[in-house]
Amino acid sequence: MKVLMINGSPHPNGCTFTALSTVAAQLEKNGVETRLLQLGAKPIQCCIACGKCKDTGHCVFNADHVNEAIDLLREADGFVVGSPVYYAGPNGGITSFLDRMFFFNPAATPSSPPPLW
Ligand SMILES: Cc1cc2nc3c(=O)[nH]c(=O)nc-3n(C[C@H](O)[C@H](O)[C@H](O)COP(=O)(O)O)c2cc1C
Repeated sequence: MKVLMINGSPHPNGCTFTALSTVAAQLEKNGVETRLLQLGAKPIQCCIACGKCKDTGHCVFNADHVNEAIDLLREADGFVVGSPVYYAGPNGGITSFLDRMFFFNPAATPSSPPPLW
């Protein structure tokens, strides 16, 4: 079994990393392979709802790890998302990342797509 772990914090060794490492250690102990993706401090583009991912299976933006995550997810049996708390919610970077990561999957797109589709 393989589990993809995503650290949405800009700090590669911060609290979110520590929490994910604790989870990873338990998974590994139980024979589950883990792979950690660090989003880091680079800007993360938000989803522009262009819908191109429906045709290509990938996001049109390539400057971050979204397309890598999409490819890794195809091989994974599960995933764990870690985020720092920013004003009582997940941080903006991970929210934008997940919007784009999930949207490529037709099963995860809204049932009433915007009119441009
Ligand atoms: C913009 C911003 C907003 C934050 N809002 C909260 C909050 O609402 N509640 C909280 O407990 N901590 C809040 N924090 C603190 C972070 O959640 C905390 O520092 C966290 O450990 C950061 O995780 P990291 O070390 O993985 O980056 C905030 C930090 C920042 C930068």
